[in-house]
Amino acid sequence: MSSVRSNGQRKRVFIRTYGCQMNVYDSDRMADVLRPLGYALAAVPEQADLVVLNTCHIREHASEKVYSELGRMRDLKVERRAGGSDLTIAVAGCVAQAEGEEIARRQPAVDIVVGPQAYHRLPQLLAEAERKAAIAKAGKRLPGAGVLDTDFPAESKFDHLPAPMGVRAGSAFLSIQEGCDRFCTFCVVPYTRGAEYSRPAAKVLAEARQLVEAGAIEITLLGQNVNAYHGEAPSSSLGGGTTWSLARLIREIAGIEGVARIRYTTSHPRDMDDELIAAHGEVPQLMPYLHLPVQSGSDRILEAMNRRHGRDLFLRLADRLRTARPDLALSSDFIVGFPGESDADFDDTMRLVEQVGFASAFSFKYSRRPGTPGAAMDGQVPETVKSARLHALLVLLADQARAFNASKVGQTVPVLFAEPGRRPGQLVGKTPWLQSVYANGQVRLIGRIVAARLTEGHANSLAGEIVTVDDPGACEAAA
Ligand code: 5AD
Ligand code: SF4
Repeated sequence: MSSVRSNGQRKRVFIRTYGCQMNVYDSDRMADVLRPLGYALAAVPEQADLVVLNTCHIREHASEKVYSELGRMRDLKVERRAGGSDLTIAVAGCVAQAEGEEIARRQPAVDIVVGPQAYHRLPQLLAEAERKAAIAKAGKRLPGAGVLDTDFPAESKFDHLPAPMGVRAGSAFLSIQEGCDRFCTFCVVPYTRGAEYSRPAAKVLAEARQLVEAGAIEITLLGQNVNAYHGEAPSSSLGGGTTWSLARLIREIAGIEGVARIRYTTSHPRDMDDELIAAHGEVPQLMPYLHLPVQSGSDRILEAMNRRHGRDLFLRLADRLRTARPDLALSSDFIVGFPGESDADFDDTMRLVEQVGFASAFSFKYSRRPGTPGAAMDGQVPETVKSARLHALLVLLADQARAFNASKVGQTVPVLFAEPGRRPGQLVGKTPWLQSVYANGQVRLIGRIVAARLTEGHANSLAGEIVTVDDPGACEAAA
């Protein structure tokens, strides 16, 4: 397989990421796999030889977007071929896993369809696609190569991926767990990502150390159901059984010199064990922010969703977490209009939100996903009802987010600056509670934790002023 174009330039890959942070992590890992093959990153598809769409299947809207984007990529491919060059089109992620054959049928210009468990095989898939494309070109056919790999291989992709390079401005994602065995009745994840798998703790720790060496000071541990983590314990570890829990892993990662912040996402309420709740009070690097999806406040709907807990368990968890860490910011996911949801059920959700008080949240209209039990349930809720409920919930959650942000105004807090803001001279960063802060500052502060005084609170962000950067003592105190 050639890593250079016929004009001698390096080949380029453009990766577009849809959906969750797992996909952001996977996109970085695909770039890591492609780098040794000579691929540099392209900023736009127009500059790329290979386009990878890393797709999301969680809601209908997300997966339909892929097909319209593929139409645009097809046009680009036609243009390229008319000019004597080519464009390789790959579809990765959960749509690839769930609809591999359909993608090939609906958009014949696609060269490669690769599921989330097979990214380490990209080099072989590319070689095969190149071979098939050469044959197709000789026959003057437009279609892509149609190479498909949506297996759940016996080997773990993690053991075959190169060392991670994805540290951005001091922050890195670290995938520790994939797949899910919970089978919530609305969710495609157990089908697209497969059975729950926890990476061995020694491998996670080794990757954490690599990330710190590459400049990470904040590590976000990722998994579809991350607090179900139960990775094999390192052989050298004494006590604590043959597996490590997420809490144990967090404590060990906190012990790596240079790790200033630890986060984890996404969690299930049923997997919030005592040890993990205690870690929120005891591990200073574990940030006071927790994304804990509840989905609904109605016991009836929670049962129909197969969540295996009621509203009381969630309320109790919120109390216990706040006892352990009084300034904890809680975030959640909500689905409105699940089959059978009545006005009274929706009211229960609104009451739960009022009772808990969320710092931020994501709310969705229920989307019927093929193959999930929810799709076949009676009592599908009309779109107009879903829209009205979503609107009411969004208004309430936005009020709470605004109030939470306003409650921090006047405080001086550590901010990890991530990138330039929209205005010249402005930076944007994150507080420990994952709020976005805009402040004027020099670009050299990106990737550092700096003390900033919060001056204004808005619905989705805060304005701040950097307090000091040249007094190292002040920065450390802030961190
Ligand atoms: N419809 C609407 N929202 C969904 N989610 C998952 N599946 C669906 C669906 N079928 C939401 C849940 C989950 C988040 C990642 O996406 O709230 O926590
Ligand atoms: Fe999907 Fe999360 Fe439920 Fe697993 S726990 S099935 S990933 S919503």
